[in-house]
Amino acid sequence: MAGIYIHVPFCRKLCFYCDFYHLVSSSVKDDQSFIGALLKEASLRKDYLANETVSTIYLGGGTPSVLGMEQLEAILDGIFRLFKVADDCEITIELNPDDVSEDYLNGLKSLKINRVSLGVQSWKDSDLKMLNRRHDARQAMIALESIIASGFENVTIDMIYGIPGMTLKDWEENLNKSFSFDIKHLSAYHLTFEQGTVFGKMLEKGLISEIDENDSASQFNLLVDKAVSAGFIHYEISNFGKPGYFSVHNSNYWKQVSYLGLGPSAHSFNGFTRQWNTRDLKGYVKAVNSGKPFFEREDLDIRTRFNEYIMTALRTMWGIDLEYVERVFEKEGYDYIMNLSGKYKNYGLMKHEKNSLVLTNQGMLISDNIISEFMMPSEE
Ligand SMILES: C[S@@+](CC[C@H](N)C(=O)[O-])C[C@H]1O[C@@H](n2cnc3c(N)ncnc32)[C@H](O)[C@@H]1O
Ligand code: SF4
Repeated sequence: MAGIYIHVPFCRKLCFYCDFYHLVSSSVKDDQSFIGALLKEASLRKDYLANETVSTIYLGGGTPSVLGMEQLEAILDGIFRLFKVADDCEITIELNPDDVSEDYLNGLKSLKINRVSLGVQSWKDSDLKMLNRRHDARQAMIALESIIASGFENVTIDMIYGIPGMTLKDWEENLNKSFSFDIKHLSAYHLTFEQGTVFGKMLEKGLISEIDENDSASQFNLLVDKAVSAGFIHYEISNFGKPGYFSVHNSNYWKQVSYLGLGPSAHSFNGFTRQWNTRDLKGYVKAVNSGKPFFEREDLDIRTRFNEYIMTALRTMWGIDLEYVERVFEKEGYDYIMNLSGKYKNYGLMKHEKNSLVLTNQGMLISDNIISEFMMPSEE
């Protein structure tokens, strides 16, 4: 089984926190050269997945919902033509609330898109203004209601916590509102200040500050408690799903399944190499059309594969599978992990479950620190 990710690099407005590759323009979406190059890339790279069956297609961005139905249809037709797609393939599209309409939703259904991810971010207008989102809370509510009413069953929303000024009560209200809808999945991210974004620059100049570490921890703990009480399973640091509704696409990333990323800035992985496309739409279109290189590639040595496995596995509820480690990374990898894990188990940050090592909730709070300690240094 394999996955395909398609990066649509257009947004209607610049969100102050976002470092995903995107161009802000309302007209660029009409530029057919992007769709042409994307389809050409798909055909050039159709062997990347070695004829494996595709179990998930993910239209992400940027804002895929700036594309019209004909453009989406052209993309999906191309993918279906070139790849072996499973009958029950999960096909997800990220929607921004201000793009949702009944007609648009019906169009998505006719294209066999069966999972939608709505970027709500917050139910509070003050947060949405601060983040420089294009929509307000009312639009998000109407969008979510119409998605559910139109018969989409597999619905997920994105929320952000740790926003400057957000109190625990604000976050609790946001979570209550989210769980009042019949959503099957929630992705909740702690706001990060990325270099080069508006927020990143404001942070450097001291015009904005990150929330206190204790407040971050309380908001994370509240998120886990409320999601679990609402019937969701916490299967990855930022992801919660009702039983049977974990994201196939994201789970594949965490389980080292191959995926092909198409479009500017998209990443690909096939077990042995990792590739990333240029973060420049014009350069991407030109290079794809003229047969020039449009990506960089890294061959993954065993140490890099080990580190990547640890980095992703420790973020999930499945944790590090010790049998897998012993089989793939042999005694050296196994001993390395067992030696390091002792102190974390003693501190209550990690637990041994069946034949896996899993972070506890306390461990999840400082997962970045724990993961960096588990990284195997290179020999040089
Ligand atoms: C890149 S966006 C694409 C989806 C869509 N354009 C949208 O904005 O909803 C995917 C998600 O990443 C999250 N995200 C992006 N940058 C983030 C940041 N710096 N901190 C926290 N979450 C972030 C947001 O929740 C967003 O919904
Ligand atoms: S968060 Fe979404 S809408 Fe906002 S800039 Fe990033 S990709 Fe575009």
